[in-house]
Amino acid sequence: MKTAVYPGTFDPITNGHSDLVARATRLFDRVVVGVAMDTGKTPVCGIDERVQLARVALADVAGVVVVPFGGLLVDFCRQHDAQIVIRGLRAVSDFEFEFQLASMNRRLAPDIETIFLTPAEQFSFISSTLVREIARLGGDVSEFVHPEVQRLFDSRRCT
Ligand code: COA
Repeated sequence: MKTAVYPGTFDPITNGHSDLVARATRLFDRVVVGVAMDTGKTPVCGIDERVQLARVALADVAGVVVVPFGGLLVDFCRQHDAQIVIRGLRAVSDFEFEFQLASMNRRLAPDIETIFLTPAEQFSFISSTLVREIARLGGDVSEFVHPEVQRLFDSRRCT
């Protein structure tokens, strides 16, 4: 049974993230979506909210569990018996940070590999920050997020 971990801040989860998870489930038996507490960012949505939204957005994708995690990603992978980390590459600009992250994780845990997937073309420009900004300024984000995420924005609890 091959398990992969897809970690991120997911503040909030977007259709781009969901597209990547769906792709990953075709490659692995189980995909653990790890919603990180320790990311170096100050998320706008709380951890419970981010987990809840990810669960709703991914409810129809079989073979996926959404779990919050604190501490190191490599420790989280070990807890879930996962030797693969999935990360998305949208553009060349993602590469530098992702290369650093993958290299550091490899140094911390040489037995864990990072695999990069690219999202569908129509999602290659989405980021959680842009989605939050558009929603905050009253724009329509329905094309980029699950309806439940949009509802949360509309209720102004998460902008
Ligand atoms: N579709 C849409 N957006 C995507 C995307 C996709 N397929 N892939 C990435 N993004 C966007 C995200 O929305 C996010 O945008 P934002 O910066 O505007 O919020 C950005 O790209 C990257 O975010 P994400 O993929 O969620 O990852 P992250 O960089 O926030 O997560 C962790 C970093 C969680 C993996 C990292 O901090 C970590 O491992 N933390 C645990 C602690 C640890 O082990 N630290 C040591 C690491 S060596």
